[in-house]
Amino acid sequence: MEIQEYKVWHLSVRLFHWINVLLIFTLSLLGLVMMFKAELGIEGLAAKIGLKQIHVLFGYVFVINLVVRLLAGFMLSGKNSWRALFSARKSNEIKPYLQAIKSDSPPQYLGHNPLGRLAVMALYLLLITMATSGLFRAGTDIYYPPFGHMIQSYLADDGVSPASIKPYDKTGVNTEQEQKLSPVKGLVGKIHLYGAYLLWILLVLHIIGAIRQEVTSQPGTISAMFSGKKYLPRPPIDR
Ligand code: HEM
Repeated sequence: MEIQEYKVWHLSVRLFHWINVLLIFTLSLLGLVMMFKAELGIEGLAAKIGLKQIHVLFGYVFVINLVVRLLAGFMLSGKNSWRALFSARKSNEIKPYLQAIKSDSPPQYLGHNPLGRLAVMALYLLLITMATSGLFRAGTDIYYPPFGHMIQSYLADDGVSPASIKPYDKTGVNTEQEQKLSPVKGLVGKIHLYGAYLLWILLVLHIIGAIRQEVTSQPGTISAMFSGKKYLPRPPIDR
């Protein structure tokens, strides 16, 4: 059995992956603190706004990291490209895969296995959802960019300078406009919160899948996200 080395994950993809992991942990933790601030003894408007500001600043790093990865996916080749992730494959791919991994010589993958590919596609969609809903709420709650100024202008009463409107302060705010915005703000907040729950469910499945593949059919799956390389005993079936 001759082990072959294959380069698979580009440095930018590996950096994105681990920075994203750290940011999801940090943003989730800050999100939990915001949700349970009363129970944690955190009181007052300044603390409420301060927590949101910190969450949003980490959120910006999360968005930049994601945008760089989304753009890189159009420029990179091989398994790092969007073409590799989203290219149409046979619809009956999953059943044969589940049977094949039980065999004595399970198939080796350079990129994601068929189930992993589905999880990663769903993860990217959720990351985009978290980024857009978060940016919108950053605009409605603390008037932060990119939507903050637009929302201040929408809310400002006649003759009031939009920039003078402050978070959680109704001075200069047009009540009618505020009431119109309120359901949209609520809905986007719900999408952000349930998106975070769904993201964690998918992350747990993604981690279980990676560990399972590492242990049962393809050792080196996880270390490849550090080194960028896979070492396979047989040619990969997705070359
Ligand atoms: C994967 C990334 C993210 C996770 C896991 C996450 C998680 C959370 C959680 C758990 C909450 C509390 C929800 C609630 O109190 O109902 C929250 C609220 C919030 N997040 Fe995020 N977030 C993420 C990304 C972002 C980004 C990118 C931004 C903006 C740049 C952002 C802005 C906000 C804002 C403004 C709130 C307050 C909304 C509210 O009070 O209902 N988040 N986030």
